Formats: sequence, C-alpha cells, structure tokens
Amino acid sequence: MNKVRLGPCITFFPQPTTLISSVDATGAVNIMTASWAGLVSKTPPSIGISLHHKRKSYENIRHSGEFVVNMVPATLAVEADYCGVRSGYDVDKLAISGLTTGSADIVFAPLLNESPLNLECRLTLEVPLGDYRLLIAEILEVHIDAAAQRQDGGLDATVFNPLVYLGGLREYWSLGEKKGQAYKDGLALEPQK
Ligand SMILES: Cc1cc2nc3c(=O)[nH]c(=O)nc-3n(C[C@H](O)[C@H](O)[C@H](O)COP(=O)(O)O)c2cc1C
Repeated sequence: MNKVRLGPCITFFPQPTTLISSVDATGAVNIMTASWAGLVSKTPPSIGISLHHKRKSYENIRHSGEFVVNMVPATLAVEADYCGVRSGYDVDKLAISGLTTGSADIVFAPLLNESPLNLECRLTLEVPLGDYRLLIAEILEVHIDAAAQRQDGGLDATVFNPLVYLGGLREYWSLGEKKGQAYKDGLALEPQK
C-alpha cells in the first residue's frame, strides 16, 4: 500500500452519527448532531462525547449534567444533517426537522422517538481540549426498538440500520453487510489443537 500524508487533521472513520438531546434551564429541548461519540468504559458503562464550547448543547449539558445519546438510523440522514448545521440558539430544530421526543426514565433530557437506540447519560467528567470539551458520562439506561429483539435473544442490526459518518470526507453512508462474528472469527488464525 502506497501512503500519502495528510498532516494533523480530523480525517478518521467510520464514526457514528448521533443526535444528542438536552434541556436548558427553562426545560426547552435541543437536539444536536455529534459524530465524536464513543464508548469509553464497560464498568461502569460510560460514553464520551466531544462538544465545541460554544454549542447550545454544551451549555445545556453543563447546566443540567444530563443528556441522551440517540443513534441515528440511515433513514434520518437529512434531519440529522440539519441538526448539525443549525444551532438551538437560533432555531427550534425539533419543530423544523419534524423529529419528536418522549420522556426518559431517569434523566430530564428526552428520548428521540425516531431513534432505535437511546442512551440516558449523566455527566461524570469534563476534559478541556482546546475549543472542545470531552464530556464523559455514565450510561444509566439503554432503550432499543423492540422490533430489533430476535427470538434467540440476539439483536437484529438491520433494524438499527445506523447512519455511518465519514469524517474528513463529510459523507454519510449506510452500514453494508455483516462480515463476521466478533471475539470468535479471529481465533481461526490459531493452530488447531
Ligand atoms: C455529521 C456531523 C457531526 C458533527 N459532530 C459534532 C461533534 O461531535 N461535536 C461538535 O461539537 N459538533 C459537531 N457537529 C456540529 C454541531 O452539530 C453543530 O455545530 C450544531 O449546530 C450545534 O448545535 P447546538 O448549538 O444547537 O448545540 C457535527 C455536525 C455534523 C453535520
């Protein structure tokens, strides 16, 4: 493989596409697109998101200490993109996108009804990174679309149909097909006993 250098930049993928829901001091709901999101611990279950300090969502989360991470399905690429180019300081993104919310179990921030996977989160740690703030939060509850539950107890990835973001290219893709079984297929490389 012949390599070309890009220098220090943020070209890296795949990334998830998420919509972060949060509430402000008046209880008004805002949603924001975030692709810099990823699990950071299993015990306790924790996720990190990184937000620019001027986002309305950052102000909301600093005030409330809570948010919901909503996985975006590929069917909502246009709505998610809109929520990533306009601020809640200027527009009501829920009203314009037509997306709807319902109550969470534990946190005040709501669940996005159109998302098949919602994580209720409580802020535990903030790490300043230049203009950005890495917000680490404990996952308090996870909600999934019941249609994704298979008879054998597993989950059907096609029901989630996640929207994949290619950072640096600024493109949205869908998932593609299953390529293998994690924690299992790699063992085939070891000599058979
Ligand atoms: C695909 C995509 C991913 C984005 N990911 C992030 C992110 O991880 N962190 C961030 O601070 N901004 C991110 N943005 C930009 C914010 O979503 C955008 O600035 C938004 O207007 C902020 O909304 P708010 O001010 O209502 O919180 C992303 C935008 C797009 C289109």
